[in-house]
Amino acid sequence: MNSDGSTGYAGVQKLLHWLMAALVIVMIVVGLSLPRMGPGPLTNTLYEVHKSTGMLVLALALVRLALRWRLGAPPLDPGLPAWQRRAAAASHGLLYVLLILVPIAGWAATSACCRPVNFLWTVPATLPVPADNALAKQIFLLHFGMAFALAGLVAVHVAAALHHHLVRRDDTLRRMLPGRPDRP
Ligand code: HEM
Ligand code: HEM
Repeated sequence: MNSDGSTGYAGVQKLLHWLMAALVIVMIVVGLSLPRMGPGPLTNTLYEVHKSTGMLVLALALVRLALRWRLGAPPLDPGLPAWQRRAAAASHGLLYVLLILVPIAGWAATSACCRPVNFLWTVPATLPVPADNALAKQIFLLHFGMAFALAGLVAVHVAAALHHHLVRRDDTLRRMLPGRPDRP
């Protein structure tokens, strides 16, 4: 049950979930392509898009966490075994952690190697970390490692959502879909 007694995700939580899912999947695909593309204007543009979209993902993740804290989440399906309840709570928690740490690491590494960092080409957004290529390399390793962990966890998360919908045939996926009048 949510803090206001209703049993579904709020419209704004659903909107943010699907918007961020699309953004994160594009981020991973573009991120993986970047180091494999030769230099050129398209590569430069994609770097800028990757950086700005990543900062946006960070901001949206913070908004989403605040909403989660304020509005809560609907109860899990009552028939779910205890280990699956724990797995759901742990994996959702870890998804939130990675949605925050992956962009922070990318932002910090870029601030260390490649100043200035600008949001949308214009707004100065360099983090106060030392300008140091060796440090940047270490932080990029964290960025890549956590981004791969995020991609793996998203794959498990999607498989779990499909399992609920197609095998268990419960309400888990439906309550994250638009159009269900759960909450105002
Ligand atoms: C949710 C947010 C983000 C995701 C999922 C993400 C994911 C990735 C991935 C998968 C790679 C490729 C790693 C590889 O192939 O080795 C990458 C590279 C990169 N990311 Fe991100 N990233 C995010 C946010 C950011 C942010 C906010 C910045 C900077 C402000 C950033 C800067 C970079 C840079 C500069 C590279 C390329 C490094 C190189 O050319 O070696 N990323 N990212
Ligand atoms: C990058 C992609 C994705 C990310 C980062 C992500 C992240 C999350 C997070 C953090 C939650 C927990 C929400 C909360 O309780 O506050 C959640 C819930 C959920 N997600 Fe995703 N998600 C992604 C993609 C998907 C996809 C593609 C599907 C469907 C195929 C999906 C289905 C669901 C469902 C059904 C829930 C509700 C689970 C429940 O209430 O127990 N997600 N997602």
